[in-house]
Amino acid sequence: MTQTLQAVRGMNDVLPDQAELWERFEETVRDWLAAYGYRNIRTPLLEHTVLFRRAIGEATDIVEKEMYSFVDDLNGEHLTLRPEATASVVRAAVEHSLLYNGPQRLWYMGPMYRHERPQKGRYRQFHQVGVEALGYAGPDVDGELLLMCARLWDDLGLEGIRLHINSLGSLPERLAHRDALVRYLESRAAELDADSQRRLRTNPLRVLDSKNPEMQPIITGAPRLLDFLGPESIQHFDGVQAILKDAAIPYTVDTRLVRGLDYYNLTVFEWITDRLGAQGTVCGGGRYDGLIEQIGGKPAPAAGFAMGVERLIALMRDEGGGSGTLVDVYVVNQGEAAARSAFRAAELLRDRGFAVIQHCGDASFKSQMKRADASGAAVAVIIGDDEAAAGEAGIKPLREERGQSRIALDRLADAVSDLLYGEESE
Ligand code: HAM
Repeated sequence: MTQTLQAVRGMNDVLPDQAELWERFEETVRDWLAAYGYRNIRTPLLEHTVLFRRAIGEATDIVEKEMYSFVDDLNGEHLTLRPEATASVVRAAVEHSLLYNGPQRLWYMGPMYRHERPQKGRYRQFHQVGVEALGYAGPDVDGELLLMCARLWDDLGLEGIRLHINSLGSLPERLAHRDALVRYLESRAAELDADSQRRLRTNPLRVLDSKNPEMQPIITGAPRLLDFLGPESIQHFDGVQAILKDAAIPYTVDTRLVRGLDYYNLTVFEWITDRLGAQGTVCGGGRYDGLIEQIGGKPAPAAGFAMGVERLIALMRDEGGGSGTLVDVYVVNQGEAAARSAFRAAELLRDRGFAVIQHCGDASFKSQMKRADASGAAVAVIIGDDEAAAGEAGIKPLREERGQSRIALDRLADAVSDLLYGEESE
């Protein structure tokens, strides 16, 4: 027997039952983005590897060990499946001089690839909805980004997603803090675990991100970046917090929030839930004022965020956001003449904007009615030889106790409309 094939580990199929929730999520997201005037941008899944190395940083987990990188056999190019899209969006904006037309509010939605150890909420192909506000110095746009997220949680009916924010200041401030941090960590080098010892050499700030409980006392005693901020950075951070306070959005200043990508400065933030276990961060982002120049563009400030779609969908499912009714009408039919009539009935109903499933294939009336029920349709339209000969259709509400009636085909759409929306709506 031929061995059955399976999807690549950490990469999931979204089957129709789940896809309904995905579609609902995507619809909500599109409306929400439109409400803030963001415009869609679509970039390739493959980019030159150097883009991510330069943008995300050589000493990050993503670049060190999580990228799907390969050499194209055909022309020797070094390519990478995008692990995130901020770098790609900035590359596209610079390549096509988008910022010459003024600042840009952009969004994207799609798959990203990271070779991480798969677990609940963490996959090797996952999806993000992301937003990049290019050319804005903030703190107003930083505040807008945070207000947007809060509104989306509301629109999706999600509760209990907490906001953590921090400021990473400017480069000189980070360097001064880094010096102090390295001195401190070196003084306690003997107590550091192997991972932190390695990070101390490559990317000391990331030691603060260690999840090892034994490292926590060392991390707690470490110099805080917040204490190294100058007046401008503090003013920016205060500005963001004032917007949050005005909007009554609760938040925590988390001085250990450092993010896993190197391009950030000033504002950084994460939205976190307790309901997803270890992978509780549903959204992360911040300001990255140096990136556009680093990718070869004219210096311009920018900020953005990306959210994990699988994680948000899991929360929606937990909150009872199962599949809703997708079709209005299921057309049951038996016999050749009835099938022809069923086509006509289904098209007439679709002309009026109803979503219709027409039964295809042989099956008894009884089993077709079961399918009709399982489809979630509100109404079954039933056509047998008798109805077909008379140019009529049977019509039966599926979600309420009411008998079947018969109606001429050209009155069918009116009758379905009466059933679904009440007679006065006509
Ligand atoms: P990130 O924190 O790496 O940021 O990812 C953003 C979100 O993507 C995470 O909070 C999480 O919800 C989701 N995510 C990340 N990795 C996985 C995974 N392996 N499986 C499932 N979900 C995952 C960025 O990607 C930045 N580009 C965000 C940004 C945009 N910053 C500025 N603009």
